[in-house]
Amino acid sequence: MYRSRNCGELRTKDLGTEAVLAGWVHRRRDHGGLIFIDLRDRSGLVQIVFNQENKELHDLAGKLRVEFVVSVKGKVVARSPETINKELPTGEIEVVASSLNILNTAKTPPIEIADARTEPDETVRLKYRYIDLRRDKMRENLIFRHKVVKAMADYLDQEGFLEIETPFLTKSTPEGARDYLVPSRVNPGRFYALPQSPQLFKQILMVAGMEKYFQVVRCFRDEDLRADRQPEFTQLDIELSFVEEKEIIDLVEQMLKASLDTIAKDIDQYRGKHLPKVSLPFPRLTWAEAVGRYGSDKPDTRFGLELVDVSDLVKETEFKVFRETVAKSGLVKGINVKGGEKFSRSELDNLEAQAKALGAKGMAWIALTASGLKSPIVKFFKPAEVNAIVERLKGETGDVLIFCADSFKVVHNVLGELRLELGKKLNLIDNNAFHFLWVTDFPLFEYSETDKRWVSNHHPFTAPHGSWDDLEERFLKEPGSVKAQAYDIILNGTEIGGGSIRIHRPDIQAKIFKLLRLTEEETKLRFGFFLEALEYGAPPHGGIALGLDRLVMLLAGMESIRDVIAFPKTQSALCPLTGAPDAVSPQQLKELHIKSV
Ligand code: AMO
Ligand code: AMP
Repeated sequence: MYRSRNCGELRTKDLGTEAVLAGWVHRRRDHGGLIFIDLRDRSGLVQIVFNQENKELHDLAGKLRVEFVVSVKGKVVARSPETINKELPTGEIEVVASSLNILNTAKTPPIEIADARTEPDETVRLKYRYIDLRRDKMRENLIFRHKVVKAMADYLDQEGFLEIETPFLTKSTPEGARDYLVPSRVNPGRFYALPQSPQLFKQILMVAGMEKYFQVVRCFRDEDLRADRQPEFTQLDIELSFVEEKEIIDLVEQMLKASLDTIAKDIDQYRGKHLPKVSLPFPRLTWAEAVGRYGSDKPDTRFGLELVDVSDLVKETEFKVFRETVAKSGLVKGINVKGGEKFSRSELDNLEAQAKALGAKGMAWIALTASGLKSPIVKFFKPAEVNAIVERLKGETGDVLIFCADSFKVVHNVLGELRLELGKKLNLIDNNAFHFLWVTDFPLFEYSETDKRWVSNHHPFTAPHGSWDDLEERFLKEPGSVKAQAYDIILNGTEIGGGSIRIHRPDIQAKIFKLLRLTEEETKLRFGFFLEALEYGAPPHGGIALGLDRLVMLLAGMESIRDVIAFPKTQSALCPLTGAPDAVSPQQLKELHIKSV
């Protein structure tokens, strides 16, 4: 027997008992007469003592090095009061060894596992991931992830959902990224695509009468990577039949609340403080409100600094930039940077440079100082006009008002990004708060400057709001005004999920493809199988997918999803552990009928 107990579970109630333990040598201290080992397994650490009563045993313990794998038998004894370690859950006891079995030796690890203060280089961490994952934080992250996923899956199981697997070797799904392709050996010249999501299969499962589906599923997207984007990531994917938008939103809220309540203790332990429980319902903003007030369709609502429209106040002023922007159907919006007066001139210049890098033509500002207004633009305004602007933005002494005049898109994008920057700079963000938020009523279509045509904002199976019969007229009149029965869920400014009610009628689906200017031939080629399924009695249905990696990252307070994924890829989509992607032999390529260039 390698072990009878786990290292981290021993307490004073175990005093006097024999324990057989197995694990890794975390630290060793050789005090000549006494050798101390911190032994680590998944449950935690315990101190083992080798005294000189048994010389052979003491000599063997002298051979131990960090990360050796051992099995130890010994007696649980109390530590003397001055040696109690309050930092350690097992700190009141230690185990006096009576036998030691060295199960394996270890090379000196390239990462210092016992040192929680220094963060090793990420390439080294990913190459030696099996060592990196031995670190406390990383082990806890994986345990925590398991708990979050299990709590949500259990909730869905209780609610009558079935977990059903869908294929990885499949046809392209339109989620907006590039596909990873897999060549078919037995069908020369043909390719599978790894799914960007199980979207079409889950809808087909609704046609098949499964009614309530979920899946913890890997999705593959070849896109530019960031801290919250991986080429393969995991969704908690959900689809239901005979539902409306509100019911899906309610279900997801209930699931998140129940799951967070279940793991509340873990979250508190993780964050080192007690966090208040989330309360329902989560706030809801329409897309127009979210973008209008926060300059973003995934607003971080943990702080204010909202955008305020002053177009009507500046449209007849002397300031040409503002006046002409409004005349050309643009917008002028501002943010009251509370307490921003303390910013130096160069900090304001930096902010303006940032605005320009984001596409703005400039960033005007008015500082409200105790000795009056300071600003490069007030000279263009009459006192009453300035007063009206200051009043609209609720400006007070000590504030700086910043402005951007441009198109709808540029104004919101620029001020939205500056707002986030200012929130951080002014320390307005509470890192221990969870701000969930729904964003609804997205535009169904958006204009693609690259393709020079209207494209789906989500995927083309998203149902429009309003009557489906006059869809075409509404689209022709104003394409951007057609809203989607689509909803995103946001946590602390990160999109953690999105979904929609789907189009279940083949005639309406065909109409959407027509509006997107996809020819019948194209749609048949790409989605023929799916359109055919809709013709055999598809029920009304809808669903959502939560980005599990992002959700776990945010709950755990991590900065990158790589910290909550066991084997992630680097920013350039490489796996330093295995060396993937890798070259393959000419023979393999030949079998796949592929010529390398
Ligand atoms: P969507 O494309 O919005 O919807 O994806 C759902 C959620 O998945 C997460 N996510 C990612 N996480 C990590 N790395 C990525 N590269 C990545 N891409 C997306 C986000 C996102 O909110 N089929 C639809 C869902 C539906 O309509 O039911 C879909 O995939 O958190
Ligand atoms: P100018 O008269 O061009 O020197 O601009 C005066 C101020 O207006 C400067 O602070 C510019 O940054 C600012 N400004 C110029 N264009 C814009 C714009 N489109 N939106 C907001 N401020 C602008």
